[in-house]
Amino acid sequence: MEKPFLLLLQWLLLASHSVTALRFTVDDFPDGFAFGAGTAAFQYEGAVAEDGKSQSIWDTFAHSARNPNERTSDIASDGYHKDDFATFADVCFREFGDRVKHWTTILEPNIIAQGSYDIGIMAPSRCSSPFGHNCTVGNSSVEPYLFLHHNLLAHSSAVRLYREKYQAAQKGVVGINLFSLAIYPLTGSPEDIKATERANDFLFGCLTFPFQGHDNASANKFLNCSILHPLLFGDYPESMKKAACPRLPSFSNYESKLVTGAFDFIGLNHYSSVYASSNPDVSKMAVRDQAADVGALFRDTRDGPTSIQYPAGRMIDPQGLEHVLRYLRGKYGNISIYIQENGCGQTDDSLMDEQRIDFLKKYMASILKSIR
Ligand SMILES: *[C@@H]1O[C@H](CO)[C@@H](O)[C@H](O)[C@H]1NC(C)=O
Ligand SMILES: *[C@@H]1O[C@H](CO)[C@@H](O)[C@H](O)[C@H]1NC(C)=O
Ligand SMILES: *[C@@H]1O[C@H](CO)[C@@H](O)[C@H](O)[C@H]1NC(C)=O
Ligand SMILES: *[C@@H]1O[C@H](CO)[C@@H](O)[C@H](O)[C@H]1NC(C)=O
Ligand SMILES: *[C@@H]1O[C@H](CO)[C@@H](O)[C@H](O)[C@H]1NC(C)=O
Repeated sequence: MEKPFLLLLQWLLLASHSVTALRFTVDDFPDGFAFGAGTAAFQYEGAVAEDGKSQSIWDTFAHSARNPNERTSDIASDGYHKDDFATFADVCFREFGDRVKHWTTILEPNIIAQGSYDIGIMAPSRCSSPFGHNCTVGNSSVEPYLFLHHNLLAHSSAVRLYREKYQAAQKGVVGINLFSLAIYPLTGSPEDIKATERANDFLFGCLTFPFQGHDNASANKFLNCSILHPLLFGDYPESMKKAACPRLPSFSNYESKLVTGAFDFIGLNHYSSVYASSNPDVSKMAVRDQAADVGALFRDTRDGPTSIQYPAGRMIDPQGLEHVLRYLRGKYGNISIYIQENGCGQTDDSLMDEQRIDFLKKYMASILKSIR
C-alpha cells in the first residue's frame, strides 16, 4: 500500500513544478555543491557464482522466500563481464611485456561486426528480424556500428596506455588486426565502381581495395574506410556516415584525438578476392542492416551466385594481396604491416599437400613482388 501512494505523491510534486522551474544549469547551484552518480556492486556486477565469489547476504536474501519480487542480482548489469579493456590490457602488458614485443589488440573487428551482430552466425549470435539467422536478441541495424565504435575506442585506449606506461621501457609495438579482401568491381559501370567503393569503406578496412586494371585514380577514392580511416583521420568516412546516419555513433573531440594515430602497425588477414556489384534493392528497404547499408552484392566468380554479406572468398588470387600491399604503401607510405593470417584450408592431411604448397608459394611470391 505504501509504494503506490509514494509514487503518486512524487508524480503530484513533479506535476506541480512548472516547466520553467525545471530549466536550470550547473551555475544555478551554489559553489561547493557536488554532483555525482553511483552504483553498488550488487546492482552492477552480476556473475553471482563465478571465479570463487561466495554468496553475500543479499544474494542469500534474493534467493529466499522472503524476497517479495523474485528478482535477484545474479546477472544485474553484467558489469563483471564488461571489464574495462584497457585494464585488461594493462595486466597483459605488465605481466608479459618483458617477453612480448608485438601486441595485437583485436582480431578482425571489421568482419566480426557483421558476423556476430548483423547476421548472427558467430558468437554472441545477435541479430534482428528480418535480418540474420533467427536470433532471439540483437539489433542488426544498430549493433554492428556500436561494436565497431567500441572496438576502436577500446583498441585506442590500450594503445595510449602502452605508449604512456610501457613502450619506452619494454620497447614493443602495438597494432590492430583486420580482415582484408581485394575487391574488384564486377563491371566498369559507375554503379559497380561506387558499390565497390562503399564495400571498401565499410569493410572497414581500406584494407580491402578495389582494383580495376591499373586505374590508380579510382583506387585513390577508396582510401577512406571504417577502421583505418578513423585511425588516421579521427572520424568515419563520409560514405559510411551517409549510408548509416543516424545509426553510426559519432566521435567526441576527446575520442577523435584518442583514435587518431593509435597504431604502430596494421595486422592483415588475407585469403582471397571477390567481385562487387551494385545492389539496387537497397533503396527500397524501409529498415536496413549493416549489410544493406553497404549496398553491394558479392561474388566469388564473375558469374557465380551473389551474397549481400562479405563472403570469406574462395578465389585463389595471389595478385590480390600484391594489390593490397602496393596500394597500402602507395597511400600510407612506409607503415608497418604484418600479414598475420594467410593460407589454404584443406581436408588433405598428408604431407604431400601440393595444393597448399602451391597456394603459399604463390602468395609469398606476390609479397616479394610488391616489396621489389
Ligand atoms: C529460421 O528458422 C526457420 C524455422 O526453424 C527455418 O525454416 C529458417 O530456415 C531459419 N532461417 C535462417 C535464416 O536460419
Ligand atoms: C534497433 O534500434 C533502433 C534505434 O534504437 C530502433 O529504432 C529499432 O526499432 C531497433 N530495431 C529492433 C529490431 O529492435
Ligand atoms: C579521406 O578523409 C579525409 C578526412 O576526412 C579527407 O581529408 C581526405 O580527402 C579523404 N581522402 C579521400 C581520398 O577521399
Ligand atoms: C599506380 O600506383 C603504383 C603504386 O603506387 C605505381 O607503381 C604505378 O605506376 C601507378 N600507375 C599509374 C598508371 O599511375
Ligand atoms: C620503413 O620502415 C622500416 C621500419 O621503421 C625501416 O627499417 C625502413 O628503412 C623504412 N623504409 C623506407 C623505404 O623508408
